[in-house]
Amino acid sequence: MDKTLKGVLRPLKGTVKVPGDKSISHRSVMLGALSEGTTHVTGFLNGADCLSTISCFRKMGIDIELSEDETEVTIHGKGIRGLQKPSEILDCGNSGTTTRLLSGILSAQDFDSELTGDESIQKRPMKRIMKPLSEMGAEISSIRGNDCAPLLIHGQKLHGIRYVSPVASAQVKSAILFAGLYAEGDTTVVEPALSRDHSERMLKALGADISTRILPDGRAEITVSHCDKLSAPKETLEVPGDISSAAYFISAALLVPGSDIVVQNVGINETRAGILTAYRSMGADITLENRRMSGSEDVADIRVRFTEGLHGTEIGGALIPQLIDELPVIAAVAAGAEGDTVIKDAAELKVKESNRIAVMVDGLKTLGIEALETEDGMVIKGQGRGLKVQSGEIDTHKDHRIAMTFAVLALAGSESTEVKLLDADCISISYPGFYEDLASL
Ligand code: S3P
Repeated sequence: MDKTLKGVLRPLKGTVKVPGDKSISHRSVMLGALSEGTTHVTGFLNGADCLSTISCFRKMGIDIELSEDETEVTIHGKGIRGLQKPSEILDCGNSGTTTRLLSGILSAQDFDSELTGDESIQKRPMKRIMKPLSEMGAEISSIRGNDCAPLLIHGQKLHGIRYVSPVASAQVKSAILFAGLYAEGDTTVVEPALSRDHSERMLKALGADISTRILPDGRAEITVSHCDKLSAPKETLEVPGDISSAAYFISAALLVPGSDIVVQNVGINETRAGILTAYRSMGADITLENRRMSGSEDVADIRVRFTEGLHGTEIGGALIPQLIDELPVIAAVAAGAEGDTVIKDAAELKVKESNRIAVMVDGLKTLGIEALETEDGMVIKGQGRGLKVQSGEIDTHKDHRIAMTFAVLALAGSESTEVKLLDADCISISYPGFYEDLASL
């Protein structure tokens, strides 16, 4: 389905609540399945990716109940050794998180399994998990020999390792930590900078022995011990709103003059909230209200007021893993700032659901915004208050974050601006009601 969006000529006002966090929703099902007892989850993200995770665990004998609107989930955990050999190939759909984290778990089972996904997943790099898991003793191979899915996994007895990862990736880290639960001895991952730590927080809450240390050079070292038992949480696990989804409204409010909005109940875990740091460094007026803890995650309502004179900035280094999924929409906001915005150290963007550097630069140029692709990021020439978004057709490459980014940028156009999004329905991967919620503001 294609969709055409037009400029809005009035400010965005009001309050919006975004769906549950994608990363936390995936982990609630995976670790709920491996826990002893029943895990109740509310605020679950009913996007296609998290439903893929549920479907995979059901195929391994886990009883999972879903409410009608698919935002409440009950997982009847069978303990760390309770998974059964799946009767068929596990289909991870479009979800990198499902593919990689599940591979870590499957590597340690006493059965064989095969795992695949859609066209995009079959092109995404899996060597990054195959290498460390193999070092732990796993037998994991790419069926087509191209280091991508489909993957064949012969479950094995694993042993702990110390793995120095070349990338700050929570998917790589979590795959190793999940395998580490089963491994003999301790398993340590060192990453160049701390990536999102939802796995660590949830594992700790369920009783695993896990610790994190920031090394003097800024790298993060996470160690998990062998684990015989995880215990389902006594309280309901309330998934906070996804800051990666909130990002589109925060950004829209910064692009449309006069806007003043509140996004309620958003997870602001500091390993995820880099977008707030980046926008504040551009001069944005963003405040946090009603700060609280929800289980082991930090939550707040985010108020954003359109700010005159937003200026370009440089985004790189340890901030990148804290806003990796938000970089496309940050690039869109940069178009409306004064001066250049430089995004660097972000080569990981090339191996997301699409090559988000190439696709963003192409899309920005299509809409009349000067942007330059670099080796590890991009440079966006901000137009300031004079921002003119031209009409054009955007190939989303079926990447949900690209579709939502250009839907937001279209709002900054004039009455005659028409931005046509190809395959606009790909947003259902992470935010099925996105266009309706955007319209509500
Ligand atoms: C995720 C980690 C990130 C992120 C993805 C979700 C996770 O990927 O881009 O959307 O839930 O662990 P990488 O670990 O590959 O950076």
